[in-house]
Amino acid sequence: MNDFSLLITHWFRQNYRDLPWRNTNNPYFIWLSEIILQQTRVNQGMQYYLKFTKNYPTIFDLAKSDEQNILNDWQGLGYYSRARNLHYSAQYIVNELNGVFPQTYNEIIKLKGVGKYTAAAIASFAFNESKAVVDGNVYRLLSRVFDIPTPIDSGQGQKEFQSLADELIDPNNPAEHNQSIMEVGSSICSPSPNCEICPLTLKCLSYTRQTIHERPVKSKKTKVTDKYFHFFIYENNGKTYIEKRTKKGIWQNLFQFPLIETKENELPKELNKHQTFRTSKVIKHILSHQRIYAQFHHITSPPIKIQKEWIEINHENIQDYPLPRIIDRYLEEFDIS
Ligand code: ADE
Repeated sequence: MNDFSLLITHWFRQNYRDLPWRNTNNPYFIWLSEIILQQTRVNQGMQYYLKFTKNYPTIFDLAKSDEQNILNDWQGLGYYSRARNLHYSAQYIVNELNGVFPQTYNEIIKLKGVGKYTAAAIASFAFNESKAVVDGNVYRLLSRVFDIPTPIDSGQGQKEFQSLADELIDPNNPAEHNQSIMEVGSSICSPSPNCEICPLTLKCLSYTRQTIHERPVKSKKTKVTDKYFHFFIYENNGKTYIEKRTKKGIWQNLFQFPLIETKENELPKELNKHQTFRTSKVIKHILSHQRIYAQFHHITSPPIKIQKEWIEINHENIQDYPLPRIIDRYLEEFDIS
C-alpha cells in the first residue's frame, strides 16, 4: 500500500463516522445514499436515506411506486431530477435486468443519473472494484497535496485528476480508500482547511508552498442567471389554485401557485391596485445555475383569468403535492396566515 493510502485510511479508522450506508454492501442502498448525498449535507441526507430505505426497502418497491409518492418523499431535498432518475433507473433494473443491480463500473455508469463519481462509489463500496472516486472534495484535496494548478473544470484537469486518483487507490482496499479520501477531503481539507490535524500535512506540497488557498483552480465561473418570480396565492374561503409545471427545466412535474415572471424590480401589471392583497418580502433561493427572487402575492380575486390547467385545492391540502423547495420554505417560515 502506498503512503498516501496508508495515511488516509489510518486517519479514517480513528475518525470513522458510523453512517448507515457504510454498514451495508447492498448496491441499491448505496446507490440511494449516493444520489441523496449529491448536493446535500450528510446530516440532512441521513433522514432522507432512512425514509427511503423504509418506504422503499427494495428496488422493486421503488420501481413500482408512483412518481408522485417518490417526489413527495424527496420534498425538501431539491433537484428533483435526481429523484426522477432514481425512479426511472429502478424501473429499468427491474424490467430489463430482472431486478439485479449491475455489478461493474462499466455497467453501473450506464444508469440514468449516474456519472463517473457515483459509478465509482457504488462499484467500490458494494463490489470492491478498484475505481477511484473523484468528487469536489477529492479535487480539492489532490490539488493541494500535489499542488496542481490545472483547472479542475477543464477536460485536461478531469483526466489528470482521475488518473492521479487511479494511481493512488489501494487495489486491495478500494472501498475504504475511497471513503477515506472523501472524508479527509470533506472534514479536514475543506475550503477553509484544518491543516493542523491533517494526516497528509507532511506530504502536502501546497502546505509547504503556501498555495493552499489558491487550490483548486477553476477556469470559469458557473454562469448564474437571475430570475424574478411572482407567485399568486389566491385565497377564497380556504381554497386556492395550483398548477403543475410540465415543461422541461427546473421543477418539472412539481406543483406551484400560478406564476408570472418579470424583469428585475418590476411587479406584474396584473397586480392592479383594486385588489386586496398582501405581498411577501422578496425571498432569495439559490440553485446551481439560477438565483431566484420570489415574491408571494396573497390575493382575494384572481388577477389573471383562471386557466383550465389550474387545479383548485383546499389550502390545507397543499402538502399533498410535491412543491419546489422555495414554496415549501415560504409556507413553513414566512406564511403567517
Ligand atoms: N457524501 C457523498 N457520499 C458520501 C458517503 N458515502 N459518505 C459520506 N459522505 C458522502
